[in-house]
Amino acid sequence: MKIINEVKFSIPSLSVNESVARAVVSSFLIQADPTVEELADIRTVVSEAVTNAIVHGYRNSYGNIEVVVRILENNTIYIKIRDKGCGIADIEKAMEPLFTTAPEEERSGLGFSVMQSFTDKLSVKSIVGKGTTVIMRTKLKCHE
Ligand SMILES: Nc1ncnc2c1ncn2[C@@H]1O[C@H](COP(=O)(O)OP(=O)(O)O)[C@@H](O)[C@H]1O
Ligand SMILES: [Mg+2]
Repeated sequence: MKIINEVKFSIPSLSVNESVARAVVSSFLIQADPTVEELADIRTVVSEAVTNAIVHGYRNSYGNIEVVVRILENNTIYIKIRDKGCGIADIEKAMEPLFTTAPEEERSGLGFSVMQSFTDKLSVKSIVGKGTTVIMRTKLKCHE
């Protein structure tokens, strides 16, 4: 699908950058004229994916998180969040609702479920020791 506009940025895995990522993505996407609800959903999924990179991907380390957001033709939004952290050994298991490897940190295990239900398509690719890439696509409602 044709790219109409795009923003790419990289942030270190500091917890403050969860809100930075959310703010950059939502201000970029204003031009696509999302509804209040659509924008709230996008802010939530960005938070979930960036938090995962910080707390799981880089749990014993620090590194950068790469974020790419695109507005594609057909009012479709593409969001990629990539870390070069520890990776996920069993993606299918990790994506099960309520599964978490960090219960002591009061994680709910619902991050991937939220990403799945708040977007049209979620793809997770991961290599242990190399990192994780989460790609989400969602089509905004047309309001002409
Ligand atoms: N970027 C990542 N790097 C490594 N592991 C991850 C990453 N994202 C998710 N995971 C793994 O998948 C599990 C489930 O993630 P999620 O559904 O967001 O629940 P939670 O974050 O509450 O544990 C995490 O507990 C973790 O084991
Ligand atoms: Mg999570």
